[in-house]
This record gives sequence, structure tokens and C-alpha cells, in this order.
Amino acid sequence: MKKMLDLVVSDNSQLNHNYCLIKLTTTDNTLLPDMLPGQFVEVRIDGSSTTYLRRPISVNFVDKEKNELWLLVQVIGDGTRKMCEYRKGDIVNLLLPLGNTFSIPAQNTSQELLLIGGGVGTAPMLYLGACLKEKGFNPKFLLGARSKNDLLQLDEFAKYGEVYCTTEDGSFGEKGYVTNHSVLKNTRFSSIYTCGPKPMMVAVARYANDNKINCEVSLENMMACGFGVCLCCVEKTREGNICVCTEGPVFNIEKLTWIN
Ligand SMILES: Cc1cc2nc3c(=O)[nH]c(=O)nc-3n(C[C@H](O)[C@H](O)[C@H](O)COP(=O)(O)OP(=O)(O)OC[C@H]3O[C@@H](n4cnc5c(N)ncnc54)[C@H](O)[C@@H]3O)c2cc1C
Ligand code: FES
Repeated sequence: MKKMLDLVVSDNSQLNHNYCLIKLTTTDNTLLPDMLPGQFVEVRIDGSSTTYLRRPISVNFVDKEKNELWLLVQVIGDGTRKMCEYRKGDIVNLLLPLGNTFSIPAQNTSQELLLIGGGVGTAPMLYLGACLKEKGFNPKFLLGARSKNDLLQLDEFAKYGEVYCTTEDGSFGEKGYVTNHSVLKNTRFSSIYTCGPKPMMVAVARYANDNKINCEVSLENMMACGFGVCLCCVEKTREGNICVCTEGPVFNIEKLTWIN
């Protein structure tokens, strides 16, 4: 059940020129609510004269030992800029957890699972990978970025599975887009999970469909309320128009109109 909570910033580190990693915990040592991979939070931006609506941010990781929620934030406009300015001890109001979750296969932990993240879309893949690993799976990660400096949290990903990378400029991993990576030719995956820029997700969805691979995508449509009231996040699906914030953000590609 979603809750409105004040959390306190326990750490905020600048990962590169436009990304930060914010760690939040409870103010009174109570446990954080349960959060599932794929879910997101809505952050209230206090002290901004331009940002009235909450901003949706994916659950990047939940550190159960430290009772910390991690948010990986890319600076886009005033709201995300304000978040990257948080200091240790600041109080942040969140609505959480929101949305549905990636589906974790019920059995056969030997099946090959590929988690593909592009840009800030790598954020939900870390927690998904950690949860899959905890259930006995050995996920593989394929992370894409413009260049080496935009590939983030590689050490964290490596804790939960093999990591493959592509960069558009060839500065790290294989040069090109994720859908060109050799791991796709060398391994027969049974499921692919992905989040990132829409053109990347469409390309991944088409690859999965052509190769008869089960595939789930996490959409990042613009959102305002985050709980099904404003209708600004609507996506056209095979079942009609639906709100990504309540019915998603995670969808099986069979439900979307991206593939034939
Ligand atoms: C379910 C979900 C999960 C998300 N997870 C993360 C995350 O983990 N980390 C992260 O950094 N960001 C994430 N985002 C994107 C993030 O919510 C936006 O970048 C943020 O709301 C921008 O707010 P702002 O005030 O900084 O910029 P604004 O001033 O609101 O926007 C600046 C510009 O970016 C455009 N824009 C804003 N939001 C989006 C969007 N969702 N898609 C396309 N264009 C947009 C605006 O039209 C405007 O042109 C997620 C979005 C969704 C829907
Ligand atoms: S964000 Fe308001 S209905 Fe989805």
C-alpha cells in the first residue's frame, strides 16, 4: 500500500557531471516500506518556485541492512537539479511505493535472464538484478550509454551478475547500441527486461519478439499525480488507453502496440 513518508538524506554523491545517487532512510528508525523491482516513488520538490508537481523516480536499490532507499537521478530540469543538491540530513517527502513490478520467474533458476538498461534507465535494473540474484538466478546485465563517463554503478551491478556494456563512441565495452552487442548472438535468453530511452526499448522489444523471447519494458512516460487521477501518463495498448502510473510502469511487450 502506498504511503506518504518523510525520509532523511543519509548520503548524496555526485556520480558524474549530471548524475547523483541519493540515499534515504527513515527519520525514526522504523523500517522502510517493502518495495519491489520496477516500482517508483514520487518526490515532492520543496523550495522550488518552478516545480509544483512531484517527480517520479525509480527504486534504484533497497539496502535492507542499512534500511536505505537509493535513487539514481539524472539532472534534466529544475526538479532533478534540486534533488542533486540535497545534503545529508535534508528531509524529503515521498509517495511510495508506486506502480507494478517486473515479474520474477517462478522456477528454473538456470534460465538465462538479460537486464538491459540505457541511460538513466539502468536505475531500476540494479534492484531487479539484486532481487533475481537473491532468488537464486544469475542475471546478466547489458548497459548502454553515450560514453564511458555515462556508465554508472558498474561495481554495484557486478555484485549480482555478469555485466556487458556498449557505448556509442566506443570508449568502453562494444561500440554501438545495446541491440548490436555480441552477447545477444552468443546466448539464448529466455527473458529480457529493459528500461531506457523509448527508441532503445522499441528496438529491444522487436529483437525479443523476432526471437520469441519473453520481454518486459518499463515505460517512463511523463507523469504528474502518479496515482491514476490526472491521465497525463496514458499509453495506447492492445487493451486500450491505460495509465502507466497505475497499470505500469512495467508491461509485457505483448500488451503494447510497438510490435506487430
Ligand atoms: C516511472 C518513471 C521512473 C523514472 N525514473 C527515473 C530515475 O530513476 N531517475 C531519473 O533521473 N529520472 C527518472 N525518471 C524521469 C524523471 O521523472 C524526469 O527526468 C523528471 O521528472 C524531470 O523533472 P525536472 O523537474 O528535472 O525536469 P522538467 O523541468 O520537468 O523537464 C525538463 C524537460 O524534460 C522533459 N521531461 C520531463 N520528464 C520527462 C519524461 N519522463 N520523459 C521525457 N521527457 C521528460 C520535459 O518535457 C522538459 O522538456 C522517471 C520517470 C518515470 C515516469
Ligand atoms: S500520472 Fe496522473 S494518471 Fe498517471
